[in-house]
Amino acid sequence: MKIALFDSGIGGLSVLHHATKILPNEEFIFFADEDNVPYGVKTREQVLGYVDAAFKFLVAQNVEAVVIACNTATSAAVRAMRAKYSLPIVGMEPAIKKALDLFPARKVLVTATEGTIKGEKIHRLIERLDAKNFAELKSLQRLVNFAERQEFNSADVENYLREEFSAYDFKNFSSVVLGCTHFNYFKDTMRKFLPAHVKFLDGNEGTINYLIRLANLNPEPSKKIPHVEYFYSGRRVTSPKELARLENYLRRLDEMYLL
Ligand code: DGL
Repeated sequence: MKIALFDSGIGGLSVLHHATKILPNEEFIFFADEDNVPYGVKTREQVLGYVDAAFKFLVAQNVEAVVIACNTATSAAVRAMRAKYSLPIVGMEPAIKKALDLFPARKVLVTATEGTIKGEKIHRLIERLDAKNFAELKSLQRLVNFAERQEFNSADVENYLREEFSAYDFKNFSSVVLGCTHFNYFKDTMRKFLPAHVKFLDGNEGTINYLIRLANLNPEPSKKIPHVEYFYSGRRVTSPKELARLENYLRRLDEMYLL
């Protein structure tokens, strides 16, 4: 099956990275909206417009399912896209349920973009899970720009994370939810400012499991690498420099995968 994964930028590669490990027989298109990243600081209407344009492009490539590998775009636009298109569409949401299922008695720090935190969707999720006293929301928007620049562990990144995490007494927290796909690149740098008991949780596995159920796919862990075509905002990525940039992210994700 031809499956599209779509993100504002290179964050969605973390979802692709997981998908290619367990779905070696599918064909993937990865669409990074590099012209418009970051989405997290834009209005809902702007994000809706970007997602609408990306879907138009992807549907014209005859994809048979779309994974919105971006929490911010899901929050702003998944409903509208499902109303408009009949192909299977899988969205992402911060893994708060997973955190509370695993560690019901402790708090969870839910990190995400400004857009996700301002959006209604995450607040409805917290209400549905009855998790008001357990989930603390924290924007780490600047990590999106750091990630786009391949800046994962510079002094600026460290200072930013040290400062943002300094307000929390992590004794009371079980985990940090990575509620933005761009945040997966920073697990080792975040770890410097978190005690060892704090776990990282993301929605990548849950999202791909949902895709498998929805599109009736056969997962098969294998070393075989499936075919992937890359696009930046609708332009096919062919230059060796840009392909090397993407390779570099995938290598970084290999290092972060089991942390
Ligand atoms: N990667 C995105 C997410 O999962 C959005 C980052 C951004 O463009 O601000 O939320």
